[in-house]
Amino acid sequence: MSNEESPICPRLPDGKLLEGIVTTLNDDRSPHIAPMGPIVDADFSRLLLRPFCTSQTYRNLKRTRQGVLHVTDDVELFAKAAAGQLEEIPPLVPATEIDGVRLADACRWYEFRVTTIDDRAERTEVVAEIVVAGRIRDFFGFNRAKHAVIEAAILATRLQILDPAYVRQEFGRLASPVEKTGGQEERRAFEFLKRYVDDRTARPAPEAL
Ligand SMILES: Cc1cc2nc3c(=O)[nH]c(=O)nc-3n(C[C@H](O)[C@H](O)[C@H](O)COP(=O)(O)O)c2cc1C
Repeated sequence: MSNEESPICPRLPDGKLLEGIVTTLNDDRSPHIAPMGPIVDADFSRLLLRPFCTSQTYRNLKRTRQGVLHVTDDVELFAKAAAGQLEEIPPLVPATEIDGVRLADACRWYEFRVTTIDDRAERTEVVAEIVVAGRIRDFFGFNRAKHAVIEAAILATRLQILDPAYVRQEFGRLASPVEKTGGQEERRAFEFLKRYVDDRTARPAPEAL
């Protein structure tokens, strides 16, 4: 099978990657909110999450074996949750079928139960079945700024493995669609991520060398 034909994931041959927000419960039952990109099958009945074994989401899924995936266009939430810097927990409501919480403001949500966990690799594979789903509001739609913020948020979570010069270069490139097509929310989210990355990739001052 050529690369063009090969599915993104052999375990879910019709699957597509969906950048969403996953809520899980911590040990003390406080909510945990993290961007995650599971592979979702065509009829949204199953998902394959791939959380790093170092992530809180993985620990929570392993312990509780349940959670909620949300589809949302709220890129500020993506940015702040990716950085682990949510100043305020967004409004939540109790989940319907699982022991957990849902974001009160999202486009769609999918409550799921974990069926299998393969944690032999650093990036674990967690297969889950969707038990109930719902819709709250329309998705805003595409714009380049929203996509740029999602890309920037992913870069911000990979600072340990990426070359800082590459990250700065990518932020330079992503700034243009944000300026050209973004509203206030996208600009705030991008500025937040830029500051976050600048703080963590600052070049030492010459006198400190
Ligand atoms: C759009 C997006 C998708 C992401 N997808 C994943 C993923 O599939 N697996 C993962 O471990 N981290 C992913 N991350 C990074 C985590 O959200 C981030 O590292 C988070 O702080 C770690 O998760 P935790 O809060 O559960 O520890 C993603 C980040 C973004 C912005």
